[in-house]
Amino acid sequence: MKVAIASDHGGINIRKEIVALLEEMGIEYEDFGCECDSSVDYPDYAFPVAEKVANGEFDRGILICGTGIGMSIAANKVKGIRCALLHDTFSARATREHNDSNMMAMGERVIGPGLARDIAKIWLSTDFEGGRHENRVNKIKEYEK
Ligand code: RB5
Repeated sequence: MKVAIASDHGGINIRKEIVALLEEMGIEYEDFGCECDSSVDYPDYAFPVAEKVANGEFDRGILICGTGIGMSIAANKVKGIRCALLHDTFSARATREHNDSNMMAMGERVIGPGLARDIAKIWLSTDFEGGRHENRVNKIKEYEK
């Protein structure tokens, strides 16, 4: 699995935590910044990562901003992206099993680094269940066409 990760200025600390987790899990990844002292615009980071996942360059994408909301809204504008905004472990597991989400977003102003790490770990290691959920995801893919 290849993972693309990025954050704006509001998500740098959790991004570093998740990069350390990816290292520990032995997952290949590329960190797309930001390397920012001052404020940047989250769409400038969400769109490139989402496009790299949508075009198959990366299998999954992880985005972090202050709330996770702006990043998830932007990522979900890209065709083929199913980005889940996650702040709990139940949803992290469920969105992989049921929605086959290929991206996740979190907010550094919402949760701490420990929970963020647990959420990402579950999301990265849970498989899609398929079956009845596949029909539902296919309806989303059809709508996008
Ligand atoms: C930046 O201040 C903040 O708006 C951003 O990190 C994010 O929370 C947007 O949704």
